[in-house]
Amino acid sequence: MDKVILAYSGGLDTSVCLKWLQEKCNLEVVTFSAELGQGLDFDELRRKALDTGASKAYIEDLQEKFVREYVFPSLKANAIYEDRYLLGTAIGRPLIAKRLVEIAEMEGAKVIAHGCTGKGNDQIRFEVGVASLNPELKVIAPLREWSLGSREEEIDYAKTHNIPISATRENPYSIDKNLWGVSIECGALEDPWVEPAPEVYLLTADPGQAPSEPTYLEIYFEEGLPRKLNGEDYSGVELIARLNEVGGKNGIGRVDMVEDRRLGIKSREIYENPSGTILYRAREELEALTLDREMLHFKKLISRKYGELIYDGLWFSPLRESLDAFVNESQKNVTGTVRLKLCQGRCEVAGRKSPYSLYDERLSTYGAEDAFDHQAAKGFIDLWGLPMKIRAMRQKK
Ligand code: ARG
Repeated sequence: MDKVILAYSGGLDTSVCLKWLQEKCNLEVVTFSAELGQGLDFDELRRKALDTGASKAYIEDLQEKFVREYVFPSLKANAIYEDRYLLGTAIGRPLIAKRLVEIAEMEGAKVIAHGCTGKGNDQIRFEVGVASLNPELKVIAPLREWSLGSREEEIDYAKTHNIPISATRENPYSIDKNLWGVSIECGALEDPWVEPAPEVYLLTADPGQAPSEPTYLEIYFEEGLPRKLNGEDYSGVELIARLNEVGGKNGIGRVDMVEDRRLGIKSREIYENPSGTILYRAREELEALTLDREMLHFKKLISRKYGELIYDGLWFSPLRESLDAFVNESQKNVTGTVRLKLCQGRCEVAGRKSPYSLYDERLSTYGAEDAFDHQAAKGFIDLWGLPMKIRAMRQKK
């Protein structure tokens, strides 16, 4: 019997996929589940996979790898999609795709499967990722091929096939969670005019209900990456978890947006990313202090492109690798400390300092120590405005 490696979360969709791959495709199913900070119960998940018919269940804690190889590079690039989305879900997909390929190679499987539908971005990220790493592997997406369709029919299928479903918490929303954020869609949120109910949010307090007393944070960065919080060393995983906690308490990191999926559909999305919002804000300040104007402005263009590559499933691409080389070079002097003030949904800068600061008080001061050559300004302005002056003179004639 041929083997398939299934990306398995233990939810209804992937459980139904597991059964379907055995029944309809006559495949031996090996499951793979990645702990990326969503909080998996390893024992329960393994039992569930095996009870549903898997021959073997891989479950791996990949948080450290996730942060080091995926989240941090995208953070250094300030990657962002459509000006708002910090790519929490999207940045986890290439790592999962890579592990699926590695496990398939280890297990001698020729097929990979996932539980994405035919409308979203995640199917693209998984499949383009797999194709980029091993073009020989085949991919099956049961929920895309299968004509069953509705949620109710899926539940019926699960019931008649003895798939254990947790009927206790029938969540009306579709939720994807990892260390880098939460993505929430479907249900009442499908109407973009409807305000999200308070219980939609999992990580963040309502800014209006958050403490009115501000929380101050000091984050120390080395070559663009956060290393210390309030003077204490932190690993990447610990730091992100801690910032999610403090940020969440202060109502930081909520996004409600209408976004353009790769397949042309607009969709309404709710995101929560307290740690990312805080780190992006802090890094912006540190870059403003340590990068020259040309670099700073050019890097903004890179953020957008880098964000699109992640969003569009092109992580394993020559362009992303080349942009990484540029971004790493740009971060050599992005070292220093940023002081932030969190309060009721706002994350504001309170101070910044760096041994590589390009800020020169003798140049910017209006006081007596002023070292700026005021006369040089006149010559500069004459030449800068010269083309406009010539044009204006022509028009007058
Ligand atoms: N729209 C987001 C993206 O494409 C989030 C997808 C979230 N998936 C989910 N099952 N809720 O990255």
